[in-house]
Amino acid sequence: MKAVTWHGKRDVRVDTVPDPKIEDPTDAIVRITTTGICGSDLHLYEVLGPFLSEGDILGHEPMGIVEEVGPGVTEIHPGQRVVIPFNVSCGTCFMCAQGLQSQCETTQVRDHGMGAALFGYTKLYGQVPGGQAEYLRVPFGNTLPIVVPEGLPDERFVYLSDVLPTAWQAVEYAGIPKDGSVVVLGLGPIGDMSARIARHRGVQRVIGVDLVPERLARARLHGIDVLDLREHQDDLGEVIRGMTGGRGPDAVIDAVGMEAHGSPSAKIAQQMAGLLPDAVAAPLMQQAGVDRLNALYLAIDIVRRGGTISVIGVYGGMTDPLPMLTIFDKQIQLRVGQANVRRWVPDILPLLTDGDPLGVEGFATHTLPLDQAPQAYEIFQKKQDGAIKILLQP
Ligand SMILES: NC(=O)c1ccc[n+]([C@@H]2O[C@H](COP(=O)([O-])OP(=O)(O)OC[C@H]3O[C@@H](n4cnc5c(N)ncnc54)[C@H](O)[C@@H]3O)[C@@H](O)[C@H]2O)c1
Ligand SMILES: [Zn+2]
Ligand SMILES: [Zn+2]
Repeated sequence: MKAVTWHGKRDVRVDTVPDPKIEDPTDAIVRITTTGICGSDLHLYEVLGPFLSEGDILGHEPMGIVEEVGPGVTEIHPGQRVVIPFNVSCGTCFMCAQGLQSQCETTQVRDHGMGAALFGYTKLYGQVPGGQAEYLRVPFGNTLPIVVPEGLPDERFVYLSDVLPTAWQAVEYAGIPKDGSVVVLGLGPIGDMSARIARHRGVQRVIGVDLVPERLARARLHGIDVLDLREHQDDLGEVIRGMTGGRGPDAVIDAVGMEAHGSPSAKIAQQMAGLLPDAVAAPLMQQAGVDRLNALYLAIDIVRRGGTISVIGVYGGMTDPLPMLTIFDKQIQLRVGQANVRRWVPDILPLLTDGDPLGVEGFATHTLPLDQAPQAYEIFQKKQDGAIKILLQP
């Protein structure tokens, strides 16, 4: 089959690789019809190379048609339409039972001290072959796939794999009061969708911040007040306090993560780590503080005293410097982590079949054949050609 594979920094290719096979009785094989490229894939493309091997199959936002199931699978059957969550989670352990699928005890990557395995995401997360491919092996066939209805296009449902539950969790963890306010830092797919969900759930004041004109324009179209970071390099906190009763918003969602614009020294550290051999760079990146923390610092400054910061952007450094005095003194509540995809599906699914209040149809700016993955990664990373969200179709 054809699959998108990692070959080095900014080097992904479409290779021919062996088809996946049923390995365990509860496995399913899914023929992928649509599969997204995530902002998290850009971290693989750019800075997380030391944790990948050449030929790793990328992708964790797939949906498709069940092609084959193992003898132990009773809950789905060939021909059914399914979306696959990015967490590889068993659905039955202590963690899964309480909706913490990102901490699944059956798939935790204990060798690296990490939580649940993920599709298509580095050795730290189990090096599981990903979903930017013609076929995907899906374990836990009875509990992991999300069966979705026929009759509506793939773009209605594909975001159940990641963008929608991730953004839903970002808003949920932000704990915004009904008549309250939230600032969303970053208006990529995750921040944009978080802002839409906050609006949909009745939050009065939603302010989005980014530095890419078309991302700002698109959020504005959805009723979000926007601020261009380029115009507020030094006074973003002041301006936002002015817009929120002088105190700052009740919550800030960090939908940027480790590659934030505006952290020059950490950018150099990331680039230097990229030049070292993997055996040296990997432990260095795990032990040192290599994240670009500009967005998190902004969040700490902006949020009101006693407010909540919901960090949904991905971070990875172990000794990142944080202003603990300010965090303590402002009594900031921090909620962080990988999305628990399956947990939020029952809340979201009705919004996809009954009208389209979140605007998932048309959310992708580009839908391209799988063969064009190298160009797709490039324009998404460089924010060229108006690329905000890209779907690939094998
Ligand atoms: N926690 C999870 O489960 C989970 C799931 C999916 C994605 N993510 C993470 O969420 C983040 C966003 O993902 P995405 O797909 O939207 O990616 P993206 O790269 O398209 O979006 C990031 C946006 O942040 C903007 N930005 C950069 N620096 C900024 C700054 N200092 N202030 C404000 N905005 C800034 C960029 O211009 C860009 O529009 C990534 O870190 C990704 O890895 C996390
Ligand atoms: Zn993702
Ligand atoms: Zn589990």
